[in-house]
Amino acid sequence: MKITVIGAGNVGATTACKLAEKDFANELVLLDIVEGIPQGKALDLWESAPIEGFDTRCFGTNSYEETADSDIVVVTAGLPRKPGMSRDDLLDANTKIVKSVAENIKQQCPEAIVIVVSNPLDVMTYATLKVTGFSPERVFGMAGILDTARFRSFIALELGVSVRDISAMVLGGHGDSMVPLPRYTTVAGVPLPEIMNQETIDRLIQRTRDGGAEIVKHLKTGSAYYAPAAAVAEMVESVIKNKNRVLPCACYLPGQYGLEDVYVGVPAMLGSRGVVEIVELDLTAEEKAALHKSAQDVKANIAKLSF
Ligand code: NAI
Ligand code: 2OP
Repeated sequence: MKITVIGAGNVGATTACKLAEKDFANELVLLDIVEGIPQGKALDLWESAPIEGFDTRCFGTNSYEETADSDIVVVTAGLPRKPGMSRDDLLDANTKIVKSVAENIKQQCPEAIVIVVSNPLDVMTYATLKVTGFSPERVFGMAGILDTARFRSFIALELGVSVRDISAMVLGGHGDSMVPLPRYTTVAGVPLPEIMNQETIDRLIQRTRDGGAEIVKHLKTGSAYYAPAAAVAEMVESVIKNKNRVLPCACYLPGQYGLEDVYVGVPAMLGSRGVVEIVELDLTAEEKAALHKSAQDVKANIAKLSF
């Protein structure tokens, strides 16, 4: 098993660290365009192996030849946002980067499962699908696990309960119009609206929507990476171990939820072939309208891509 992480910045390097420590693969390649950074970070990571006790060999490189025949490729290359920027402000710069990354994946890793992280997430995942020409089951994006984790973490703080007892669902694009679903969010199996008043739920939903910006405001020079890297690792684990976990991921929809030719976050079963099945939740008219509005926002940005 060989995993490549493209982009050795905050998200890429932290993801590489989590994947190596979980010992999922025989080989882990970290690639970046900046000379020395992936080599230095991968060597440093490998030197932690005797302490952590993992056998995943870590290599850093600037050359796609080293990534040849990877089973899984995680794409984190691209600019992060700065305070005041939306994810959509990254569209032009990151489209160029992600397209060139996808060309190289197509050449060197034709059988890979590709997990996209670069923002704007849903649009970059769409661009990766189009450039690689891979089947949609093998190209999906990370965002929903992060957004639901944020929602879960805020609910845990509010109620003073363990995060482990909270399960949540956030649908839609990874942007300001994402759709947290309180009806499908439970605390020890009890739906959130039965134990929390609407005003508090609305406040936590808004904090979840602003979750990425809240971190950017603190950091000032970049965006979140610990929780994003943990989310990627959860997806990789489900694929590598063929666990069929049902996780919210940005998936290509050819008709589910009444949506076509777009990537948005939906619950998906992840196994060794990638997206094994997209789960269609029963939505109220209001929830469905919010999902369609979010998908429309993604489509408006997809329309700006040229192929
Ligand atoms: P960063 O700036 O720390 O790292 C980005 C890395 O990409 C840099 O090392 C840079 O040299 C590299 N890079 C640029 N062009 C490249 C190319 N053509 N080939 C290979 N590497 C290239 O940024 P960070 O914080 O790691 O974020 C990376 C991306 O992930 C950003 O677009 C960010 O918005 C996105 N992101 C998405 C999340 C999600 O939920 N989907 C969560 C967190 C970040
Ligand atoms: C986040 O939500 C930057 O999209 C990233 O933190």
